Amino acid sequence: MLPPLQIAPMSPIISIKNLSKTYATGFTALKNINLDIRAGEIFALLGPNGAGKTTLIGTICGLVGASEGTVTVGGHDITRDYRAARSMIGLVPQELHTDAWESPWSTASFSRGLFGKPKNLAHIEKVLKDLSLWDKRKSQIITLSGGMKRRVMIAKALAHEPQILFLDEPTAGVDVELRKAMWDVVRELRASGVTIILTTHYIEEAEEMADRVGVINKGEIVLVEEKAKLMQKLGRKQLKLHLQDKLTAIPASLAAHHLDLSADGGELIYTYDTKGERTGITALLNDLSSAGVRFNDLNTTQSSLEEIFVSLVHQQ
Ligand SMILES: Nc1ncnc2c1ncn2[C@@H]1O[C@H](COP(=O)(O)OP(=O)(O)OP(=O)(O)O)[C@@H](O)[C@H]1O
Ligand SMILES: [Mg+2]
Repeated sequence: MLPPLQIAPMSPIISIKNLSKTYATGFTALKNINLDIRAGEIFALLGPNGAGKTTLIGTICGLVGASEGTVTVGGHDITRDYRAARSMIGLVPQELHTDAWESPWSTASFSRGLFGKPKNLAHIEKVLKDLSLWDKRKSQIITLSGGMKRRVMIAKALAHEPQILFLDEPTAGVDVELRKAMWDVVRELRASGVTIILTTHYIEEAEEMADRVGVINKGEIVLVEEKAKLMQKLGRKQLKLHLQDKLTAIPASLAAHHLDLSADGGELIYTYDTKGERTGITALLNDLSSAGVRFNDLNTTQSSLEEIFVSLVHQQ
């Protein structure tokens, strides 16, 4: 038996220090990664194809050997203390490889056994029910739909009651409805205390789910930030004024506001910085009124995480 874990409340559940990975081909997929994952959070790792997301997950899970640096999981070094570290982790890999002829029930039970955990029928039952797989528990996996197979992989990853769950592109190729259902499953897991690290290409997914967002590009972590702060910090807002009468040009007296006029002349667009001390909106509205420009509606939009992400990746 292992002694109970003594982790201070604020200490990270995963700690990655100076981690680099160079594959046998000579290709360096991870460059000096430093990252802490907090217990109980949903951390979304974003990055383009080939950025190193799967390599990073594989290294933390002990499937890929690090070339340099250290990783600890719950205080256990992933190489020296592999079994203890790995038993805290559930992994749903990017590539689905389910045992076609097995049933959800047997594949989950078997996986639990692999981690040396004693049988716990009630736990397997709960996992299968939570993932809406109970009705299919005895069906051969080959007869299930793609979305169901994905949920079987999650059930398998949760069978040994891990405290950390990695989801490598959990909703790739999954329809909108099922994606929302998966998000609910992930939120419920988090509510039950599981720390979740997910990779995704769907910015919407990170925007919807994550407590923190990390962006990886060409093997380097280029940003880690609270999602809310990120949206606020990098967010620029646009104020759109729907004009009563279309304009053919922006009146000269409004030049200082750097407005844009929509192609049809029906909308004036004002872009401002939400961080700025002054948004300039009051002055703009005064000047519009003096210029005799009237509008019958207005709305604001905030730049999305998607725009932030694209600009970050292109900057590099
Ligand atoms: N076994 C390997 N041998 C050599 N190079 C590899 C190996 N596995 C991955 N790579 C390379 O490392 C880089 C990172 O790959 P990785 O799979 O981690 O990217 P990813 O961010 O998960 O991409 P995707 O979004 O497409 O899943 C890629 O350039 C890839 O070709
Ligand atoms: Mg990948």
